[in-house]
Amino acid sequence: MCGIVGVLGNHEAAPILVEALKRLEYRGYDSAGIATVNNGDLARRRAVGKLANLSDLLVHEPLAGKSGIGHTRWATHGAPTVGNAHPHRAGRVAVVHNGIIENFKDLRADLGRKGITFATETDTETVALLCESLIADGKAPVDAAYETVQQLDGAFALAFLFEGEEDLMIAARKGSPLAVGHGNGEMFVGSDAIALAPFTDEISYLEEGDFAVLTRNSLEIRDQRGAIANREKRKIVLENARVDKDGHKHFMAKEIAEQPVAIDRALKAYMTDNAEITLPEGLDFTKVERLTMVACGTAFYACMVAKYWFERIARLPVEVDVASEFRYREPPVAPNTLALFVSQSGETADTLAALRYMDGKADKIVGLVNVPESSIARESDVILPLHAGPEISVASTKAFTCQLSILLLLALRAAEQRGLPLPDGMPGDLRSLPGLIHQSLAGEKQIAASARSLAKAQDIIFLGRGQLYPLALEGALKLKELSYIHAEGYASGELKHGPIALIDEKVPVVVLAPRDELFEKTVSNMQEVMARGGKVILVTDAEGAKIAGEGTHEVIIMPQIPDALAPILYAVPAQQIAYFTAIAKGTDVDQPRNLAKSVTVE
Ligand code: F6R
Repeated sequence: MCGIVGVLGNHEAAPILVEALKRLEYRGYDSAGIATVNNGDLARRRAVGKLANLSDLLVHEPLAGKSGIGHTRWATHGAPTVGNAHPHRAGRVAVVHNGIIENFKDLRADLGRKGITFATETDTETVALLCESLIADGKAPVDAAYETVQQLDGAFALAFLFEGEEDLMIAARKGSPLAVGHGNGEMFVGSDAIALAPFTDEISYLEEGDFAVLTRNSLEIRDQRGAIANREKRKIVLENARVDKDGHKHFMAKEIAEQPVAIDRALKAYMTDNAEITLPEGLDFTKVERLTMVACGTAFYACMVAKYWFERIARLPVEVDVASEFRYREPPVAPNTLALFVSQSGETADTLAALRYMDGKADKIVGLVNVPESSIARESDVILPLHAGPEISVASTKAFTCQLSILLLLALRAAEQRGLPLPDGMPGDLRSLPGLIHQSLAGEKQIAASARSLAKAQDIIFLGRGQLYPLALEGALKLKELSYIHAEGYASGELKHGPIALIDEKVPVVVLAPRDELFEKTVSNMQEVMARGGKVILVTDAEGAKIAGEGTHEVIIMPQIPDALAPILYAVPAQQIAYFTAIAKGTDVDQPRNLAKSVTVE
């Protein structure tokens, strides 16, 4: 949700900023812009749409200077126009911003009373104008920026650059992530370490409320109380910062294909060679009486699946909710509640707010995140890293299956700690997952072919029962976000309570039906659909196809799998259906319209 970068370097800043922004484009792609200081002059270039448009503009209108800031935008206040694109400039000040300034209307009114006028509809312009007005009052740039930041409410990561100041940049963080990169006589800032990886492997993460004054050879940080603070320098593991497609056409294709390796890595992190589940210290389910799981989007569907596992295998009552609802519901919290927050990015604003709501109410806060330095990780009592590796495509794939794999291990461990028997073959059977997923990936040719006809549909329905119901929701979400085709997921038993009215010969219905104990029930619901002319695409194993394949439009054959693992395996065809339908429709797979990878606004 917007990415920001900055450099005080020894080389031309523009190419460095563009390269760093390329690595942040997953955070938003409504517009992009950079500003530099050259011989004291502050100048900027901005373009609507993808970063490529800014690169083109820079060919025709280059921007010199070795100090600069840059931004890739996911629009919140104001349409994606050049005028609303960052960096925002007011007089001597240029600012890039990720987040939302909640009190910008009040600040605007104050500035308006001083006769200051506005050129844009954005909250960020207010920051630049406020800082410039303080400089106009005689304040030095650092003091003006400090005073400005103190007046801001909301969530933000900010970088400031000043006319006449070649060796000064300000960075401030509250609620949105920001890292400082240490170079050799150079300094960088970036929304994440991945952005800075080509330039330095030494990073300090700013903490909540930090205000940093950077020059090429110095970094001074004041914490939220104004005291000088030291932030540890860490080495980035470059393997974790690789962002190439590795020969695939899209990041999404690469990330789907990586799942066997990613899951294997995740399982090895939590299971010994003797199939013993090992959890971080401090995570004990013995006294837990209730589990509350909160997340958004795909991560929420992972929680929904896990509810089936925790309740059935560990006999633990579970509440799951989407974070944007949970945070305002003011739910009472029962004693001995463990709260689990699931997030790929670890920065999702609603999930973080829900975590803060539970802080002090739940016995323990656990964060299952892919980014161990993220805000959710930092504010959790226990962190469970996902080990999925960087996920660049906006649509989550490997993070989802890694979330599921670890959540299943957690449910199994909870059962052990609560003295309950584990389902046959568990947890050892989990080891078969990478191989089975690898096998199912081979089905892509068939799915690619059927996606060509799915791409012509206006509405598509996904059905699943029990632990496959959340997968039906996930299949529909993936399809909507990538192909822009309207899709809905339903619990198959719920269809006849209304949605069956939607069925006719024009509506493809994808039925996710592993041969588990609910298979016959799902098949009955599928037959109700076929009886009304619905065009069924059945996803099941070979035996399931023999039993129920007749009369369906198509069957996608999956490997046979132990019951508990089915949601993890059946995520793959759901992802492939969305991916290939998007390809057939010619939409932008890795960067679908209106979306961003890391949703740091509520
Ligand atoms: C969909 C998708 C989103 C995210 C959601 C939560 O493909 O990726 O629904 O799952 O925005 O993001 P995280 O997991 O970063 O909290």
